Amino acid sequence: MRLPPFFAVAIVSALAFIPSATRAAEPGRTISVTRLGLIPLPRHVTAYAARWHIPMTVRITATDSAQRNVADFLQRFLKKRGIAAKIASTGPAQIMLSTTAADARLGREGYRLEVSGNGAALSANSGHGLFYALQTFEELFNPAQGTDNAIHQVTITDWPRYRWRGMLLDCSRHFFPVPVVEKFIRVAAHYKLNVFHWHLTDDQGWRIQIPQYPLLTKIGAWRAGTEVNGNPNDIDHQRYGGYYTDAQIRQIVAYAQRRYVEVVPEIDIPGHCTAALAAYPWLAAAKGPFQVRETWGISNVPLTPSRRTFHFLDTVFGDLVSLFPGQYIHLGGDEVSGKAMNVWEHDPVVRKLMQSKGWETPSQIYDHFVRKMVRFIAEKGRHGVVWNAQPARSLPAGAVVECWTRDSSGIARAYAEKGHDVIIANAVKLYFDFYQGDRKYEPHPTEGLTTLREMYGFDPSSELPQSLRNRLLGVEGCLWTEFVPTARHLFYQLLPREMALAEISWTPLKDQHYSDFVKRTTRQYLWLRANGYNFRVPPPSLHFVGTGGHATFIRNPYRNLIDYKTACHSGFVHIREPVPDAVIYYTLNGAIPNARSFRYVGPIHVRLIPGHPLQVRSVAIDTSERSSAPSRLVVQSTRR
Ligand code: ACM
Repeated sequence: MRLPPFFAVAIVSALAFIPSATRAAEPGRTISVTRLGLIPLPRHVTAYAARWHIPMTVRITATDSAQRNVADFLQRFLKKRGIAAKIASTGPAQIMLSTTAADARLGREGYRLEVSGNGAALSANSGHGLFYALQTFEELFNPAQGTDNAIHQVTITDWPRYRWRGMLLDCSRHFFPVPVVEKFIRVAAHYKLNVFHWHLTDDQGWRIQIPQYPLLTKIGAWRAGTEVNGNPNDIDHQRYGGYYTDAQIRQIVAYAQRRYVEVVPEIDIPGHCTAALAAYPWLAAAKGPFQVRETWGISNVPLTPSRRTFHFLDTVFGDLVSLFPGQYIHLGGDEVSGKAMNVWEHDPVVRKLMQSKGWETPSQIYDHFVRKMVRFIAEKGRHGVVWNAQPARSLPAGAVVECWTRDSSGIARAYAEKGHDVIIANAVKLYFDFYQGDRKYEPHPTEGLTTLREMYGFDPSSELPQSLRNRLLGVEGCLWTEFVPTARHLFYQLLPREMALAEISWTPLKDQHYSDFVKRTTRQYLWLRANGYNFRVPPPSLHFVGTGGHATFIRNPYRNLIDYKTACHSGFVHIREPVPDAVIYYTLNGAIPNARSFRYVGPIHVRLIPGHPLQVRSVAIDTSERSSAPSRLVVQSTRR
């Protein structure tokens, strides 16, 4: 019998495949793990200089449905690299998938990945872990070289730091169509995040179809105009809006599920509801009419606690429960201001309720809303998630609290002490609408600054004392979109910071080192570019090395300003840029560089003249002609 060539290859490879458990020290010399460019950094990695040269046709074994799901992703990935992969349930194969890792340390999301000279074995206890093994496996390929299919041999054992690794997208302030939402989920899953928190309603737009209340989307999904550039007196008078149909929501949930991402929908009550009030004014604690908000501020009119309102909420949250299969449903609960409390005080429905219950403050109306909806969600077998109030309120057992307010150390502790699980979404450190560098060079930002370095340096566990850390479910980044109108801008705000979020939430604290992380981002920029993601090109970093002397420096990471003082007569300025292939330009006269400035090809020799500080400014322009913000270095001579 003559075997077709493919089988010959398969059999030879299968014979040559040495099961990893019996592999001797044969791969030889190890290399630095940093070179692999893995993000988030796995827990235990050994990387070898030797590579596996992947043949042009391979077999993958996958037996159960979770393995087949991951095998499908793998097959598509390999196809893009010119490798034809056949998925089989039995027989020899170069790539073996297994969900019976039988290693309790791995839990549901951990995995083992072994690449030898002849093949790869990905194993986990479930599809979740197997999917993460695949993400790491894919990262071993150089994203820039479509035809180079040689990857380093490795042994990796890995599992996450936190269970909840989330990213919020606000689709109310600006609406993003299904493909953008999927793209957002895809990159989150690539970085092993596992929660997509979908902020679906707010004062500026209601984005989910509820069949029993059609006006929510007919009226509530549209506003007559939008505030321009953060100026509430400047409205563009363009009708703006959109919403997701049931079918689109199911599509997104399925898309996320295949990537082991849980979608946590949020309907924000009892404040942040103007879009719903515009549709159904009887929901309001004050007299209407109401308009979907065109400006970014928050509204002061909350829901009224009438029977009709609770019937409405039962329907809306009932629909959420049936559309979203995950364990968690978010009911908002943030920013019910003092003014909103005043509105409640004047609402006859509130007065009557307070009288009958013997309540003394309108904040008990807040508690009433949250309590009722958390209980409703619990009856459906799910957990209600609530933004923290300030100060902490009393909530029903089982409610999970997402702590966002800035002094969240006290807040997380207060809720954890009351027995609630908490998620840290600190509004300085983990807010992706905040700007990433010198404000002058950033697109219109929200009020605060959160650099990549600062986000990376945030330790969520520091928000809780040791004794309460078992209450810490995990971390979440929030991308509010008041000032983020386009998908391009959305991904600019998200990337590269989402890599920092991923590493905070996955990698053990002791293994988090910023300078190592930045080196690993280099390969990731190639991946982002190859996959069509916009990102912020980080400004180049500048260093001065004095000749035959010492230079002290003061760094200001916020503004990419680096100042040196030195007694040296001369020295070299070194410029580094993490985005590969980006071209670095510089000036020595204080001007902002552009593509006509000097091109950096190596360390710049400079002379230092007393009384004349040397100023070097530089930008990086990447292959897609994205320019970084400028960075600056000043060297002052201390000689007279
Ligand atoms: C929030 O930023 N209001 C949760």
